[in-house]
Amino acid sequence: MSKLWGGRFTKETNKLVEEFTASISFDQKLAIEDIEGSLAHVQMLGACNIIPLEDAETIKEGLLSIKEQVEKGEIEFSIEHEDIHMNIEKLLIDNIGPVGGKLHTGRSRNDQVATDMHLYLKNKTKEIIQLVQDVQHSILTQAKVNIDTLIPGYTHLQRAQPVSFAHHLMAYFWMFERDKERLQDSLKRVNWLPLGAGALAGTTFPIDRAKVAKQLGFETIYPNSMDAVSDRDFIVEFLSIGALIMTHISRLSEELVIWSSQEFQFIELDDSFCTGSSIMPQKKNPDVPELLRAKTGRTYGNLIGLLTVLKGLPLAYNKDMQEDKEGMFDTVETLEGSLQLLAPMIETMTVKKEIMRKALNQDFSNATDIADYLVTKGLPFRDAHEVIGKIVLYSIQNGKYLLDLSLDEYQQFSALFESDIYVILSPEHVVSARNSYGGTSPFQVKEQIKLAEETLFIK
Ligand code: ARG
Repeated sequence: MSKLWGGRFTKETNKLVEEFTASISFDQKLAIEDIEGSLAHVQMLGACNIIPLEDAETIKEGLLSIKEQVEKGEIEFSIEHEDIHMNIEKLLIDNIGPVGGKLHTGRSRNDQVATDMHLYLKNKTKEIIQLVQDVQHSILTQAKVNIDTLIPGYTHLQRAQPVSFAHHLMAYFWMFERDKERLQDSLKRVNWLPLGAGALAGTTFPIDRAKVAKQLGFETIYPNSMDAVSDRDFIVEFLSIGALIMTHISRLSEELVIWSSQEFQFIELDDSFCTGSSIMPQKKNPDVPELLRAKTGRTYGNLIGLLTVLKGLPLAYNKDMQEDKEGMFDTVETLEGSLQLLAPMIETMTVKKEIMRKALNQDFSNATDIADYLVTKGLPFRDAHEVIGKIVLYSIQNGKYLLDLSLDEYQQFSALFESDIYVILSPEHVVSARNSYGGTSPFQVKEQIKLAEETLFIK
């Protein structure tokens, strides 16, 4: 089959080379973006009298009908034409005749592919921002009904201080808020137009890049043609934000797995989000959060993969860059799948408030509060810490918790103890006493939720 670039060659391409170098199996995902880019390009060529207006019109019609066929899934792309750009150009020429060959005037596949990727990521980034926001909504929904639900808060996965369950969940809300901001910010750079850079040095034709930028909705035009065709920073940026989003998802997933274990039983995931065991009839496995946790790995791989492809690449375009696509598609699909599952899974989980609350009767997570109690009675914090350390040791040795000790027992450790200590020690008091800005008291958590709602509303 004749190649669009066949003129200089005397031999057919080796079949294995053809297969090895082709990208059509994956870059056909860019078909619509490729046609959009070509439409803008050809209209500009016509408007600038670089090709006759009626030719531009014929090509435009040809492209539109290919677009329709692509959307209906009627087109079979072929490996002989290597990638999506040449496949579409070949189809165009087959459909409308030699005039289709004018489309590629003043353009190269190098600025063309870069443009396609920008257009693709622009759409996907916006869609993913929306999906992250859906997860935030589901977190908010659970948080709002769990302001007074208390749960042990951990450091080192050891009981530390009790917190409001809403407070714990809302920590993720803010992680996702920052992720959204990062995505939003990255759009500024996705919004640079490469088209018009030619192969690397610009073109001899009097093109109008601003016109193309306007039609395709780009805010900035790459001021340097060599940078335009070799820049893949915007993809690295997307992959790194994607990896971070998955990091957040995996941390939350890990908590869901732990919380739904027999040992914790703090939550129960909805049946529709769990699977069973082929041998153990009693099992209800949290496969979804487990897979979310695991799929994070591939997004790290995609990021490191592309960074490694780019490392040490000389300017300008190199075929190495074709390796930018599969990882990008994979991260996009991983994010879409993960975020779409996470939102309803959070919203439908059952929060076992009594079990969470009961856990707090069996730990020393109120110990800091008696230390603070002695401080308010004038003891330096370090001394108070020492006293309470001894009380905790005494309690462990006697199989008791802090609320089980009598006032007499307390007073053996310090004369400063009075009967109000019991009020101080209740988990409800411990939580509501942490009323500093951003703390876990119900008042602060309500303020935080208000701020979160405003944040979602504004954006
Ligand atoms: N399929 C190629 C890619 O994805 C398109 C650009 C090809 N340019 C070239 N000079 N071979 O990178």
